[in-house]
Amino acid sequence: MTLQLAVLASGNGSNLQAILDRIADGALDAQVRLVLCNKPEARALARARAAGVAHLALAPADHPNRESFDAAMVAATREHGADTVVLAGYMRLLTPGFLAAFSGRVVNIHPALLPSFPGLRGAADAQDYGVTLAGCTVHFVDEQVDHGAVIVQAAVPVNAGEPLDDLKARIHAMEHRIYPQALQWLAEGRVRQEGRVVRVLPRLDGKAVAGIPDGPWLVWPPLEPGF
Ligand code: GRF
Repeated sequence: MTLQLAVLASGNGSNLQAILDRIADGALDAQVRLVLCNKPEARALARARAAGVAHLALAPADHPNRESFDAAMVAATREHGADTVVLAGYMRLLTPGFLAAFSGRVVNIHPALLPSFPGLRGAADAQDYGVTLAGCTVHFVDEQVDHGAVIVQAAVPVNAGEPLDDLKARIHAMEHRIYPQALQWLAEGRVRQEGRVVRVLPRLDGKAVAGIPDGPWLVWPPLEPGF
């Protein structure tokens, strides 16, 4: 069923753009009913404007507390007919009241392979730690930061000594693929959550996705002949 999305963003909005693009090309069965920002200067607002999508900036400073601000966010989201909330670089924690209003219908993308490297510096923390596989995660949102059940993850190789911006760009490119895909699975009603574990049900059109191929799937630095 066509997803009715509210996209919450605080900044650039490249994930919003990827979602808008995949809707426009027919791959993603969704409508963006509203783009909501907590910062009036967010580029995400300009992207919404350019796409002809309703958009609104709400100022936390206009509210006495987080609960009141989030109540205004819930009201705006409902008024615009959204049933699913997509966090796309939204730099505020949602209150329990907000999450209760859209129970099981709030998703986020994080630039690391959770549960490694939660928080604001996912890609930088992965690089500082010295992992050779970084990545990104789409997950349901619960009351803990970067903690809800994982829907899909993509691994991205890290080259020792590379500029952080190169790694971030590689991660972002994968974000723009896995986020629309996860939303399309939701639109198709194929996402089942049992406790922490999410299962994506097989396609109904008989076009089965191939099973897991023989490994190695991603080894970085790559294996050399003989190993
Ligand atoms: C992304 O890296 C996402 O993983 C994180 O915030 C960033 C948002 O980027 N949650 P953009 O605004 O979509 O370009």
